[in-house]
Order: sequence, then structure tokens, then C-alpha cells
Amino acid sequence: MSDSPAVSDSNTPSTASKPGPVPHTHPGYVGKCVLAPMVRTGELPTRLLALRYGCDMVWGPEVVDKGIIGSERRENEAADTVDFVKSGHNGKDQMVFRTHRTLEKERKKCIFQIGTANPELAVQGAKLVAADVAGVDVNAGCPKHFSIHSGMGAALLKTPETLTAILRSLITEVGKPFNIPISVKIRILDDLDSTLTLVRQLCETGVCRVTVHCRTAPMRPREAPIRDYLAAIADLCHSYNVACYANGDVRSRMHADEIISQYGVDGCMIAIAAEKNPSVFSTELARPWGEVVRNYLEYSQAIGHYFSNTKFCLNNLIPGAEEHGQKVTQAKSVLGVCEILGLPYKPLNAEIEKEDRESEEQAQALRAQKQKVKEAQEANRLKQAQGKAKVKQHNLQKNKEKQKRLNEEKKKGNAERQKSATPDRETQAVAGQKRKRGEGGKSMDREAGKSKKPEVAPEGPNAVDLSQPKKLVDAVAGQ
Ligand SMILES: Cc1cc2nc3c(=O)[nH]c(=O)nc-3n(C[C@H](O)[C@H](O)[C@H](O)COP(=O)(O)O)c2cc1C
Repeated sequence: MSDSPAVSDSNTPSTASKPGPVPHTHPGYVGKCVLAPMVRTGELPTRLLALRYGCDMVWGPEVVDKGIIGSERRENEAADTVDFVKSGHNGKDQMVFRTHRTLEKERKKCIFQIGTANPELAVQGAKLVAADVAGVDVNAGCPKHFSIHSGMGAALLKTPETLTAILRSLITEVGKPFNIPISVKIRILDDLDSTLTLVRQLCETGVCRVTVHCRTAPMRPREAPIRDYLAAIADLCHSYNVACYANGDVRSRMHADEIISQYGVDGCMIAIAAEKNPSVFSTELARPWGEVVRNYLEYSQAIGHYFSNTKFCLNNLIPGAEEHGQKVTQAKSVLGVCEILGLPYKPLNAEIEKEDRESEEQAQALRAQKQKVKEAQEANRLKQAQGKAKVKQHNLQKNKEKQKRLNEEKKKGNAERQKSATPDRETQAVAGQKRKRGEGGKSMDREAGKSKKPEVAPEGPNAVDLSQPKKLVDAVAGQ
């Protein structure tokens, strides 16, 4: 039922010393370029899109064992999907996992990745989906706190006995009965020897594939991967007939082909490059974002995918600096997105359409309300500015008038002072006659004396200011 090699294929002739369940040389494993497991990004529309662009296999986002346990399997005729649903805390149905029954044959190419630290829970969870997927993979590489604090993800790299117990249980109780491969995704350890020791333990469990994320657990995604160990890991895997895939900064199918031939691995897994543009799986050059987004929205609408995830993925697919990217973040539904991008709106059913229209109406009403508030604020601001300008003008005018009045008063005062200080002709004439007669000389001298400078004694140690009689007396007395 699956495009992935089934466990029963193990009778294919093999030259390896310790044959694994399916030889790594099986065409189902060789030369593959696959979509990495990605929480949020790796939901069904992204997987469908990756497959459309030529991706060979797709990993679903990690689902924790307790997350899938207790879910109900539902065939969704309208969306043509198989849904695993749980009722959430708010009483609403919560989609835990879903595969597509026919589109791009997703169900036959999808690997269900489980987050677990317990063999029993892993088996219990994996059994629920085993009939609807092409394989089960164990996440032994996630370094995030929510994984490692409960012994899952990268924590399993430090507890190989738990990891191998999980894998053995899955192989026996899920892989064999459901005829699907069990695989594991790890990170490299601090040195080659310890990495090889771990890989050997994993191969001995009978897994079909080991995917190696070429970064150590503390390394961040932006750090360059360390591919130095790859060739040795691939050789070791092959000696057990186990396929080996490389992961870490693989940017396209062409790049994957280079890595496959350079390091002798069987396939490559792409995450971030595919998150930005799933057409990297194509044998041709990556497609422009406009086309990719149109196709993404087609899939998203065809399965009635939930909007918050659609929006999240669109934000990764639309380059941030583009004008549309900014607007899409404001949309409240797929209808809004389609209107902004000028793309066809094809809701899965009337219920979704109703919800979308309501969301957009609410958003529009909110936008109109915000616009009104903005306009009112602007009008208020203008009014205040105008009021301030008026007051300023008024004060300016008042000051001007005051200044004018003061100037006039000053002018008037000066004129009056001048008038009283300048004797009229008659007075001048009388004064002239008096001078001729010799009268008034004394008083003139007295007046003149007032403006005379005070006499000053010559400078020197004994200099005395003659204009200051008291000082003179003191000075003489002090001699
Ligand atoms: C958004 C996102 C979600 C991821 N979720 C998972 C996950 O669920 N399980 C897992 O094993 N790895 C997960 N990874 C890690 C990737 O599968 C991959 O190992 C890593 O990104 C390195 O590949 P890259 O260099 O091609 O991005 C995630 C990575 C990203 C970016």
C-alpha cells in the first residue's frame, strides 16, 4: 500500500553482512530527496505542495505519543482526508494528524513522526496511524525543552538503551504487523567514535533508515552543518543494510544529489529551504513565490485547512519585504488572503465560506471603526492646532499693539522732555540779555561745575582722591 519499501521486501537479495529489514539499495530508498518533519510547517498543505514539486517522501510534524493516543480516526469524505481528531479543552474538535487519501498519493508517501520516551506509549500511538501512513519515524534529535525535559527528542541520544527499546518495540509491534518501515532521526554527537557507536546500536535494532541531522544538539539552525562524519556513518549503516539520509542545510534537489554522491548517503532531507519554497524539490530551478503561494492556497482550501496555520505558512512562503507579505498578515481568513493576492477563493464548504465572510466582515467593521477613530483623532488634532494658531496670532497682534502703544508713549514722552529741556525763544532771548549784562554767570558756573570731573591726586603710594574729603582726612591721618 505504501510507496515506501515495505518490511516484507526484506527478501530482496543483499550483499551486506547483517541484513536489515529492507536493503538500503531498494529503489524506495536510493537517491531520494525528502521533506523534513517540521512542527507547524509540515502540516498537510505543505506536504502536498512538496510532493507536487517532486518531493519523494514527506515527514509529518512530530506528534507526541500521548497526543495521538485517544484520538479518533475519521474519514473525511469532503476533504478526502483521514483525520485523527481529539476533543480539546474547549470542547472543540482538535486535529492531531491528518493524511490525504488520494492527492499526490500523500498517504503512501507520508512518514508519521512520533515524539516518545516510552516503548509502550510509542507502540500504542503508532498503531493508531500505522494503516494510514508509509512508515513511522522516531524523533531523537529535537533539542527543545518541551522534548528533552521528558526524555524525548535529543535526550534519547544520551539514553540509547531507551531509544533502542522504543525502536525494537515499534518494529515488532507496528512495523511488522502493518508492513511499514520504522526509522529514526538523530543528531551527530560530539565526536565520530561516539556517533558511530550510537549508529551501530540503532542499526542493530533492525530499523530501515537512519536520518542524520549533521549538527550536534546544542548547535543552532544557522550554524553550518558538520558533514565530516557522514561517509563513515553511511558506510556503517550500509553494512547493516540500513539506509542513511543526510539532513542539515540541504538547499535543493541539485544540492541533495551532490551530497548523495559526495558522501555516499542514500538520500537527503530538507527543512528550512523547503519551508521557504517547497519547489526546491523540483529537478528544475525553484519556482517564484507567487506561483508557490497560489498552489499552496489551492491545497489549503481543498482540505479546509485551519486558517492560523495557513497564515503561518504563507508568512514563510511570501518574502517579507514584498508588499503583499505585509498585507497578508492583516487578513483574517483565506477569503481575505485571496482578495489581497487576487487569487481564486474556493472554500471547501458553505460553513467555511460563512465563517470566512463573517471574519472578513468583522475585520472590515473593525478596520472602519479604527479608521473612524483615526479620523476623529486627526480632526481633533487639527482643531487643536488651529486653536493654538489662533491664540498665537491673537497674542502676536496684542503684543504688536502694545509695542506700538509703548513706542508712541515713548515718543510722546521724549518730545515732552525735549520741549521742557529746550528753552523757548523768549527765554533764550532773556538769558542772552542777562549774559550780556553780566548777570547769571555764577549760577552758570555752578551748573557747569556739576559736570566737571573730580580732581584726582597724582598716582603713587601717597595718592589721594581729592574728590573724597573723608578719605583724604583718613589718608593724611594714616601717614
Ligand atoms: C519549523 C521547524 C519545525 C521542526 N520540527 C521538527 C520536528 O517536528 N521533528 C524533527 O525531528 N525535527 C524538526 N525540525 C528540524 C528539522 O527537521 C531539521 O532537522 C532541521 O531544520 C535541519 O534541517 P535544515 O538545515 O534543512 O533546516 C524542525 C525544524 C523547523 C525549522
